[in-house]
Amino acid sequence: MDSRTSHAHTSHAHTHRPGVRSAAGSAGPPAAFDAVVVGGGVIGLVTAWRAAGRGLRTAVVDPSPGGGAAQVAAGMLAAVTELHHGEEALLDLNLTSAARYPRFADELAEAAGTGIGYRACGTLSVALDADDRAQLRELHLLQERCGLDVQWLTGRECRKLEPMLAPGVRGGLRVDGDHQTDPRLLTAALLTACERAGVVFHRGWAREVTVRAGRATGVVLTDGTALAAGQSVLAGGCRSGEPAGLPPEVAVPVRPVKGQVLRLRMPDARPPFLSRTVRAVVRGGHVYLVPRLSGELVIGATSEERGLDTTVTAGGVYELLRDAHELVPGLTELPLTETRAGLRPATPDNAPLLGPTALPGLHLATGHHRNGVLLAPVTGEALAQALVTGELPDYARPFSAQRFAGGRGVAA
Ligand code: GLY
Repeated sequence: MDSRTSHAHTSHAHTHRPGVRSAAGSAGPPAAFDAVVVGGGVIGLVTAWRAAGRGLRTAVVDPSPGGGAAQVAAGMLAAVTELHHGEEALLDLNLTSAARYPRFADELAEAAGTGIGYRACGTLSVALDADDRAQLRELHLLQERCGLDVQWLTGRECRKLEPMLAPGVRGGLRVDGDHQTDPRLLTAALLTACERAGVVFHRGWAREVTVRAGRATGVVLTDGTALAAGQSVLAGGCRSGEPAGLPPEVAVPVRPVKGQVLRLRMPDARPPFLSRTVRAVVRGGHVYLVPRLSGELVIGATSEERGLDTTVTAGGVYELLRDAHELVPGLTELPLTETRAGLRPATPDNAPLLGPTALPGLHLATGHHRNGVLLAPVTGEALAQALVTGELPDYARPFSAQRFAGGRGVAA
C-alpha cells in the first residue's frame, strides 16, 4: 500500500519549524485530521477503522501497515485458558471481547470483502505429568471460582477428542468457548476496511507528538512531515512510548516480550490432524498448537524479555518442538514452513492501556500483551467512543491509560 497524503485542509493554527514539512511535502499548512493513529498493526488498524466509521477523518502512521505482532501471533481467543491469578478484571474485558467476535468477524468481512478465519473450534488444555496436572487443577479451581464454563477430562477422554495426543496425557480441561481467528487474515481485512472507510495511510514513523498550549496537536514523522490532528492515538505496540514530546505526566509503561512461533503444514486428511486448539503446560512452560482449516498448524510460543530483539533462535525452536512433540508426537512428520518472532507489548499489570491520557488530545491503545487479537473488537469500539465523546465505555474504564501516571502501579 502506498502512502497517500490528505486532501483535507488544516483547521489548526500551526507554526512552521525547521525540518518540519507539510503532509503534501510542500510549503503551506499541514494536513488536518480528526484523529491520527500511530501504529498500523491490528490495534492501530481497528482503532482507525472504528474511528472512521464514526465519521472522523482518520490517518494511520506506520512504515509498514499491517505488519507487527499480528503477523506472528497464533490468533487464539483464549480468555478462559489464559486466565491468571490476579487478572480477574482483565478476564471480564477478555470475555466481553470474545463475545463480540462473531459479530465483529461478520461486520469486518462485510466491510472488507474477505473473511478473518474466525473458527469456533474450542480448546483442550492438557497435562503431561503429575506436576503439570497439579498446575492445571489450580487453573481449573480459579476458572470455577470465576464461574467459567470448563470441564475436567481424564487422559482417555482427552485422547478420544484428539486422537493425535500422546498416550501419556494425564487429564485436561475442555474449554468450548475459547476459539481462534487468523491474525494475518484479520490484518488484511482491517487494511482493506480502513481504505474503504477513507483512512489515509502515511508510511513512516512518528518521531514526535506535537504539543501546543497544553494539548496534543498531531505528530511529526521521521521524514519531517507534520500531521495536524485534533486527537492522536499511540498504538505502536511495545514502541508506543518512543515519540518525543510526551510530557512527564504521560506514562507509557510498555516493554517488549518476545514470542517465537513456528508454522507447520498438516495433511489434508479426515479425521483432521487436530480439530481444536490444544495447549499444555510442559515442565512448567506453556505450548499451544492452533490448527487452521487452511492446513496451517501454528505452534507457540516462547516468552522472553530481550528488548527489541526478534531473532529466531535454535534454542527457541528446539524448546517449542520438544514440548509440542511431547504433546503430539506425530507432528515431527509435518513440514516446518515458517519460524518467526514477534514482540508482545506488556504492561506492569499485563492489561492494556486504553483511551485518554493526562495530555488532552492524546490517547493510548497499547499494552495488550498476550491478548491483542482477542481484544481487537473492544479496543476499536472503546477508542472510537473515547475519540468521539472523550470517555471510555464502562467496561474499558478499569484499563484507563492514566492508571500508571504518577507512579501508581495498579488498575484504577
Ligand atoms: N496469547 C498467546 C501468546 O501471547 O503467546
